[in-house]
Amino acid sequence: MKLEEFLRLNAPEDLASLTSAIAEASVSVWDNIPFKSGLLSEVNPSGEKQKAIDVFSNDLFVEALAATGCVREVASEEMAEPVEGKGAFSVAMDPLDGSSNVESNNPLGSIFGFYSKRLPASGRSLAGALYVTYGSMITLTFSFGKGVHRFVATRDGAKMSFELLSVNLKLPDKPEVYGFGGFRKDWITPVRKFVDSLEERGMRIRYCGTFVGDYNQVLCRGGIFAYPQLLKKPQGKLRVLYETAPMAYINEEAGGYASDGSRDILDITPSTLSEPSPAYIGSAPLVHELERMISSEK
Ligand code: F6P
Ligand code: MN
Repeated sequence: MKLEEFLRLNAPEDLASLTSAIAEASVSVWDNIPFKSGLLSEVNPSGEKQKAIDVFSNDLFVEALAATGCVREVASEEMAEPVEGKGAFSVAMDPLDGSSNVESNNPLGSIFGFYSKRLPASGRSLAGALYVTYGSMITLTFSFGKGVHRFVATRDGAKMSFELLSVNLKLPDKPEVYGFGGFRKDWITPVRKFVDSLEERGMRIRYCGTFVGDYNQVLCRGGIFAYPQLLKKPQGKLRVLYETAPMAYINEEAGGYASDGSRDILDITPSTLSEPSPAYIGSAPLVHELERMISSEK
């Protein structure tokens, strides 16, 4: 089934328009990666002036989202102030997650949260969330509160279109992989102890350095991703509004749990647009176990 048909049958109109706009723009982002990141010649095929790939993706997504008429504001990791519109949704986005991975051709991603309130707002006001992976395939994974669904980009004549890959994705019961960011020596003690126990249980380390890529394999194989509380950086690194709350929303719809170490990430109301928090996300039993270990060491 094609994305447009699925959206027509399963999504509210506004969220369907936003999703289609993101799908189309994501293909342009992917097309432009070698040019805008300086790996190929300065000028891209359309002869436009060079721009850094993260700024390029930001501008492209802002334009595509604004053109739907469905956004009240778009806030982005790449912009100091949100762009205003007259629609119903506040969109928070990380337009190119993991952009330092371009040269090594590791996966990249884009993250979008569709909030029904003015930003900053808590994850409880998310009406939907979506992430794009630019990996061996371009995939869109999203939820509007009724399960997690995934589409893949395929060529349809001269155009790319998105075909259904899976409906109602759920984290597998048996967790297989884990990936934790930052230096091991900087992790708080319960995190170090927990990771040692994962290796004893036979789970494999998988860490590519792009949140979207690392989380995506947790969703496919079961396990846990974290950017933990660090000894000298208690808030960790990942941003609640742009990164962790939208992924926590999808993860919860897939049967998982996401915590900042003491509470559900969806319950955090950030006081600024780019406020970070520690993030532990994936299979519910593992995240609950780590949350208990962290709280008992306090
Ligand atoms: O957005 C920040 C980010 O690029 C994430 O995609 C990724 O999880 C993290 O940084 C990686 O950080 P580090 O290089 O410290 O492992
Ligand atoms: Mn990011």
